[in-house]
Amino acid sequence: PVPCRLMIVGEAPAEEECKRGRPFVGRSGKELEMYLDRCLDLSRDDVYITNLSKVPLDSKKEMFDPDMMGEMLQKEIYDVNPQIIMTLGAISSYWFLRDAPHDMEVINAIPHEWEGKIVVPSFHPAAAFHDSELMQWIGEAFSTVNDALNGKVTKWKPGPPTIISKLEDVAGGDIWAIDTETMRDGRPYCTTATSREGRAAMIRADNQKELAKLKYFLSSAEKKKENIEFTCR
Ligand code: URA
Repeated sequence: PVPCRLMIVGEAPAEEECKRGRPFVGRSGKELEMYLDRCLDLSRDDVYITNLSKVPLDSKKEMFDPDMMGEMLQKEIYDVNPQIIMTLGAISSYWFLRDAPHDMEVINAIPHEWEGKIVVPSFHPAAAFHDSELMQWIGEAFSTVNDALNGKVTKWKPGPPTIISKLEDVAGGDIWAIDTETMRDGRPYCTTATSREGRAAMIRADNQKELAKLKYFLSSAEKKKENIEFTCR
């Protein structure tokens, strides 16, 4: 529909899409429809679905210059005038969010402002075909879109992570220590970050959204100790 409040931007048509001349009508499309239905209670006819590139991309993704792509997309955005744009996959996410950290684990599900609109980057639904854990991350991104549709997104960039320990907010100082606790089987179950003695944020490893916020925060914080590794995922 045009205009439409929510626009979904994938990367490029795959085989089925090329045959039928419509975006997301193959396997990825089925997956996308599943998220739309389960997370937003919407069908594909309720949203405007498109791709950044209108032709299949070369497998060497890094060869693609974002400035060369997206001319048609600009026109579509103008016509559709969406309030919320969900980007699926790294290529379309970085086309919008060039200054954001280039790491999908960091930006996934975090709302950003782009030309007065809310852009919600997400892993591509097809990425979960190879790594089913990503379904949870994609679900988080859809939950941010749901919040945005309900007018609940007011912050564009993540603030510091939520503190679940009794200690004070970790924000404000430079991060100098991060400790990840793991279970016997090696799975992480929580991460603690401290900037100063007596200050810490503790985040459970199954809280993907808070972990993403912490990673985002860390990506801009100065790390004083070289050997700090954020090992939570
Ligand atoms: N993947 C995409 O990004 N877009 C499509 O249309 C199909 C698969």
